[in-house]
Amino acid sequence: MTSKILETLQGKKSTTPPIWFMRQAGRHLPEYLKIRATAADFIDFCFSPDKAAEVTLQPVDRYDMDAAILFADILLIPIGLGRDVRFVKGTGPVLDPITPMDISRLKTHGAADRIASVYKTVSKVRAKLAKDKALIGFCGGPWTVATYMIEGKGTPSKEEAKRFAYENPEAMSDLLEALVESSAEYLIGQAKAGADVLKIFESWAEGLSPQQFDRLVLYPTQDIIKRVRKAGVTVPIIGFPRGAGLNSIRYAHETGITAIAAGTQMPIDDFRCAIPENMPIQGNLDPLALRIGGNVLRKAVDQVLEDGKNGPHIFNLGHGVTPDVKIENVQAVVNHIRGKEAHYV
Ligand code: CP3
Repeated sequence: MTSKILETLQGKKSTTPPIWFMRQAGRHLPEYLKIRATAADFIDFCFSPDKAAEVTLQPVDRYDMDAAILFADILLIPIGLGRDVRFVKGTGPVLDPITPMDISRLKTHGAADRIASVYKTVSKVRAKLAKDKALIGFCGGPWTVATYMIEGKGTPSKEEAKRFAYENPEAMSDLLEALVESSAEYLIGQAKAGADVLKIFESWAEGLSPQQFDRLVLYPTQDIIKRVRKAGVTVPIIGFPRGAGLNSIRYAHETGITAIAAGTQMPIDDFRCAIPENMPIQGNLDPLALRIGGNVLRKAVDQVLEDGKNGPHIFNLGHGVTPDVKIENVQAVVNHIRGKEAHYV
């Protein structure tokens, strides 16, 4: 049996699109909070295959989502490269800002092997997941991961990382190369362990000039996908160049992705005309509508269904589920899409 998401990723149109949500496993779920409390450190939690597998499955068990997304984080790769990453409660990720000298000392060789306990999570989940559900593995886009490594934390503008890319072109190329190599190895490992789909989260693709976009996002992504395909991995790959605007068009045509995830601001029906014919689109319900709920949410869901209906479409958010989202509303969205009674609150 194949899964609905895989059929859509093969280009099949459907009146009821398959559904999953970015950040569906996480703090809006009481069952996540309960097991999360058993580990003090988020990174230890990601490296505990039993616990990580359990929380990967939680949203599928609760909501009957069409896919599970591996519970891990895009910032595990810098750990594999020998950098220190901490997750500070209330602040988010904290890293030691990397210098050109540090870049020359990155432990590129074997980086993915050092975080290979994640592959155990993948195989545990795949063994427990129903055959008609897909397991999505992922990595961060090289540019997005580089922004955290350079700035040491998440910032709204990414100005420091953009400046670093202009002012230290060689060091930047070396950093991207290290990220490309390790991310490709990591995706290959996940696919071999049983991931049915791979996704590249380029969450900070906004605000780059077309030239910088090509250099920092498009070519490195193309390189990752070439390496993954060269290793014989054939699973579909979803790219998510969030906020990239018209740069997303070149990204869709030139990186080698199978499908494209659209951020909240993307008019997905118009976008279809600009990307390769019949390329599946994933997205793009406004996460704020999900937080607000009620009729605002009901209308927003109808709009996304309408916008997505002219081609292969996977229903998702334009960005991730936030901790304040009500479980009743996630369930209502799933029911609504499947034509069942939906109780929005
Ligand atoms: O359902 C899922 O999506 C679970 C797996 C997952 C996590 N992070 C778990 C997580 C995935 C796919 C990610 C990807 C990720 N991580 C991205 C790309 C997607 C996006 O949202 O744009 C990014 C930019 C990160 C980096 C990151 N990780 C940040 C900025 C933070 C702090 C902000 C926050 O949401 O807390 C994290 C921590 C994180 N990653 C948590 C979870 C469940 C919260 C930590 C906790 O539960 O204690």
